[in-house]
Amino acid sequence: MAKYLVTGGCGFIGSHLCDALIHQGHDVLVLDNLSTGKLENLNPSAQLYVGDINDKMLTKMLMSQVVGCFHLAAIASVVRSNEAWGETHMTNQSGTINLFETSAGLVKPVPVIYASSAAVYGDNAAMPLTERSVVRPLTAYGVDKLACELQAQVAGRIHKVPTLGFRFFNVFGPRQDPSSPYSGVISIFSNRVAQHQNITIYGDGSQIRDFVYVQDVVRFLLLGMQQADIKAPVFNICTGKASSIKGLAQTLFSILGYEVEIIYAAKKAGDIQHSLGDPSRLVQQFQSCAEYDLGQGLLEMLQSSHALSHHIYQQAV
Ligand SMILES: NC(=O)c1ccc[n+]([C@@H]2O[C@H](COP(=O)([O-])OP(=O)(O)OC[C@H]3O[C@@H](n4cnc5c(N)ncnc54)[C@H](O)[C@@H]3O)[C@@H](O)[C@H]2O)c1
Repeated sequence: MAKYLVTGGCGFIGSHLCDALIHQGHDVLVLDNLSTGKLENLNPSAQLYVGDINDKMLTKMLMSQVVGCFHLAAIASVVRSNEAWGETHMTNQSGTINLFETSAGLVKPVPVIYASSAAVYGDNAAMPLTERSVVRPLTAYGVDKLACELQAQVAGRIHKVPTLGFRFFNVFGPRQDPSSPYSGVISIFSNRVAQHQNITIYGDGSQIRDFVYVQDVVRFLLLGMQQADIKAPVFNICTGKASSIKGLAQTLFSILGYEVEIIYAAKKAGDIQHSLGDPSRLVQQFQSCAEYDLGQGLLEMLQSSHALSHHIYQQAV
């Protein structure tokens, strides 16, 4: 049993990570400013500190107690990063540097596992995207995530802080905010189809995404803690399986056993046409690949929602 710090532990992915750590018998400290995170997401056994990742005294007090830090706090909104450039930069890059620096200041630096993003690739047409693909972030959010990876190299090279970064693709699962630019479409479609309401597809629905289920992401985060290194390795977390938005709707229809009307609207400006990752490096390093495909993840997600699980049960009997 060990003690870990999870930043962003009240958020979507962070709260699932806290559940898994607590399930394994670990003590969990959470640092979250509750800007997008919710108290109801948090496992009651976790110890919450409401505060900012840029608060040096607080991060020092927390990090000096733990054997490792999972850093998931971020303003995870591309739109917000474009609207509030400097403010999001303060969290998404400066906050990450503060955590690396805090670790470096300890008698023995603790490893930091941090969330990067497929946004570092931007609109790179070379599919599937490997960690060696050209990085061409299009937004302040993507640039900050890429900069975190470079700062992780500084943390290792100059300050001997072991780190490991994961470039998450489109993570989905329970507790996801429907407005999430990543897989919010899954929450929106699921809620609307369950209520027999029509759904809107922007563009022709042929856009490709690599949807990865949150439990797979949590599993790799946990494995990552054992592999943090001063060489600052970075891995895609993806399935390598392409799902179109139209295909997503069809998968939902087949799980729920009925269809709703699909309305087609103009493609959103700036929407990336295709995003598909190559998990080879991840699989090689961790001897494991994503276990959930889109259908399995959707089914588990729908079953965890009370109203929907009742509906699926009725379909099954
Ligand atoms: N969801 C995805 O598909 C996806 C894809 C790529 C990368 N990511 C990254 O994964 C991480 C987790 O994303 P998520 O989807 O769970 O987002 P989320 O918004 O649900 O969680 C982020 C958490 O960080 C907290 N937070 C924000 N700013 C903070 C600050 N300055 N100090 C302390 N806490 C702060 C928020 O309150 C929230 O609880 C983020 O770093 C995000 O950029 C997510």
